[in-house]
Amino acid sequence: MNKLDGQHNPPVNAIEYDRVSKTYPNGSRSAVSDLSLTVERGKFVVLLGPSGCGKTTLLKMTNRLIEPNSGTIRVDGIDIMSVPAPELRRRIGYVIQQTGLFPHMRVEDNIAVVPKLLGWDKRRTSARIDELLHLVGLPPDAYRRRYPAQLSGGEQQRVGLARALAVNPDTMLMDEPFGALDAITRSKLQLELRRIHQELGQTIVFVTHDIDEAVRLADDIVIMRGGRIVQAGDPLEIVTDPVDEFVSDLVGASDALRRLSLIEARTIATPVHAGELPPLEMRPETIDVRAALGVMLGRGLERIALTGEDGDVTGILELDAVRTVARTHPIEATV
Ligand SMILES: Nc1ncnc2c1ncn2[C@@H]1O[C@H](COP(=O)(O)OP(=O)(O)OP(=O)(O)O)[C@@H](O)[C@H]1O
Ligand SMILES: [Mg+2]
Repeated sequence: MNKLDGQHNPPVNAIEYDRVSKTYPNGSRSAVSDLSLTVERGKFVVLLGPSGCGKTTLLKMTNRLIEPNSGTIRVDGIDIMSVPAPELRRRIGYVIQQTGLFPHMRVEDNIAVVPKLLGWDKRRTSARIDELLHLVGLPPDAYRRRYPAQLSGGEQQRVGLARALAVNPDTMLMDEPFGALDAITRSKLQLELRRIHQELGQTIVFVTHDIDEAVRLADDIVIMRGGRIVQAGDPLEIVTDPVDEFVSDLVGASDALRRLSLIEARTIATPVHAGELPPLEMRPETIDVRAALGVMLGRGLERIALTGEDGDVTGILELDAVRTVARTHPIEATV
């Protein structure tokens, strides 16, 4: 591959894992086993799976904190083995589970680590610190000069996120960044991360154990077990159409699924006026959203028509409306 080939547009795939395997020197079996996965540019992909299934190993191989035994990983179309590891790591934002903030450094210096490595001048770095602190919801005046020990867990996670975003990386790897937080702080940060992703459009690979977190955040969910991928796809498809018992157990208790089966389709439908309708698949308006979703996904429909008792069409149920409900946070739903 010619790295200097500037004639092509940036590749649409931000990350490609091609038959990647990793066995640790003292490990009895592979942590990651012959895994292939393509992550498109700008997508928010969530890796979901039980403890020990290889999620962290896969992330760490992506920025060469660990090297695979076999297979190829390409970032922006370039084999990562052909890029010096420090350069690769500067280009990829990485948030680890326990924030990894330097305890002896103030918030501002923690955020400035990579800009300093890249030789940014003081003014540019300082302006960027303020911008990032605003972005993650920490007013600079109150937070810049504090040490990590003077922050709550959630505030530390925000600083960790700001640090990973510092040089505006196209790609972010996030390993259970919200794992240690209480439910309310966690929901808040999930919403903020979605907003940041919508604003900046990075490619994000995000690891979690939590199906609800995955449904709220992901464009695509990748389910792993024993170092392999067992299912990958749209969050709604995965909760409604798990490929096997392992996946159905994993997603079975999800809030999203429960919520969808408790809601009547008509409550989230778009009203219609007779006479303006294309022919659509019809269902009674009292059908629950989970069942309606089954119809839509099963037939590849973006919308279905809902009918009242007399058989007239009363509304249109859009797949996007279902998606929004599936992602609704329990906290928002109860207020
Ligand atoms: N440094 C290491 N040496 C030996 N084995 C390791 C090492 N790190 C991880 N493993 C093993 O590799 C497998 C995958 O570990 P990994 O940390 O990738 O899992 P994970 O999916 O991130 O789990 P968790 O959800 O608990 O963080 C596990 O069986 C683990 O015991
Ligand atoms: Mg892990």
